[in-house]
Amino acid sequence: MTQSTTTRGQAAPTEGGPPARAGRAGAVRFAATHTLPVLVRDLVGPRPRPLRTGATLGRPRWPAATLRALRARHGGAPVLLRGPTGPTLVLLDPRDLPRFHESPASELAAHPPDKCRAPGAAAAAGRPTGDEDHDDLRARRREVNEIVLASGSPVHPSCGPFLAVIADEAGRLNAPRTLGLARARQAVTRAARRIVLGDTAAEDEELAGWLDRLDAGGDRRGPRGNRAAETLHEKAGARIARYAAAAEPYTLVGRARRHPDPAGTLDPVGQALHWLRALDTVPTVLLRTLLLLAAHPAEQDAACAEARSADAAKGELPRLRACVQETLRLYPVVPDLVRVTVTETEWWGVRHPAGTSVLLPALFHQRDPEHVPAADVFVPARWTSPASRADLRMAPFGHGAGRCPGDRLGLLVVAAFCAEVLRGHRIRDGRPALDPVGPLPAALDPRRIRLTLTRR
Ligand code: HEM
Repeated sequence: MTQSTTTRGQAAPTEGGPPARAGRAGAVRFAATHTLPVLVRDLVGPRPRPLRTGATLGRPRWPAATLRALRARHGGAPVLLRGPTGPTLVLLDPRDLPRFHESPASELAAHPPDKCRAPGAAAAAGRPTGDEDHDDLRARRREVNEIVLASGSPVHPSCGPFLAVIADEAGRLNAPRTLGLARARQAVTRAARRIVLGDTAAEDEELAGWLDRLDAGGDRRGPRGNRAAETLHEKAGARIARYAAAAEPYTLVGRARRHPDPAGTLDPVGQALHWLRALDTVPTVLLRTLLLLAAHPAEQDAACAEARSADAAKGELPRLRACVQETLRLYPVVPDLVRVTVTETEWWGVRHPAGTSVLLPALFHQRDPEHVPAADVFVPARWTSPASRADLRMAPFGHGAGRCPGDRLGLLVVAAFCAEVLRGHRIRDGRPALDPVGPLPAALDPRRIRLTLTRR
């Protein structure tokens, strides 16, 4: 990164090579397959429902071959793409990962992924999506998230009650012989409402419907779309506030209620929307993990032994958590991480103005055969060393100050649901059939997953 400095707009040389710009064909191909779905959906509504986004459905958003070709052509330099969403700098070299993850928010501002953003919140407040958080408010919300979600603790303090809720709701998974997405969603969303809002919210399908509608069209542009989103947001907010007032102390809103908020700016209702939405990712991750275990019987037997051990009640489940992390490496729910430069910034000798989007294609790096051994194979053991949490090539939860504060809670919930299924059942004949020695497919559509459960 030591070339002479130029300002973007000039032909900016990279070390001994051409400017780090994608050619027209490369830019068009990339924009069509990658930049558009990730960036445009924030600017042009309506936002897709959680289960309809490309990544969640398992369609590749981008061709790895295109990214590898761009990296080879430009000697690893970040590639600037001018798409309809403005200039975007795409980081293709692993040497750029530390800077992306470790830069303070004063240099690279966070851009929370759709998965963890409250549906319709921005439109409801009459603001463009993405501008809702002022830096200091954002920092205080982050603090509340870290406390409520217990991001520093390997096991959440409410683990006991959460495991009891999951055991209760998992009965819905075990009842039918065949398990698919609809049944997984039913069990998990009930558990999510109980974990976030308390037992009285378990049956509240109406609230779930409002949140889905906010996701589907709440951010539609224009005053009408904003008004509709505002109404839905208000209804959902009032319902959540009612639950929050009576929620058990171990629930997430119960924990948030105990957090001092003298200025009244932290908006626990808004946070509850974030948490429900984040937990919406669990059914997909659960099904993919169980499918991979179906294709790897030895790994499945070891996970079952862990689920049946006395230690399982502590919620640590290290082996199952490793399986979930490996699933997320192969099939992340957030395949791209995005930041925005706050000031003029130099990358590889080229200056870029403030406001440039910087995109880290996390899925590309996590499955990069040039830098990750057995990149396309299911190897949960790679997550068992303590150092794996800090391995910057792997970012299913991000890293640094922007890292997902719900990572351990998310792992706990998915691993505990897996344990409930595996304790009494063997999973066979997973569909689609996977080759245990790989390479695994680039994508796994959760709607197509079918698992056959037989009693152990
Ligand atoms: C398998 C489950 C999950 C995955 C894969 C996941 C992934 C992520 C990722 C990749 C980010 C952005 C990191 C970055 O930009 O560098 C994020 C942010 C976030 N996640 Fe999660 N997440 C999960 C579960 C959860 C849960 C269960 C919660 C809360 C209940 C949660 C709450 C959040 C919040 C609040 C943020 C925004 C943090 C900030 O802006 O500072 N996530 N998540």
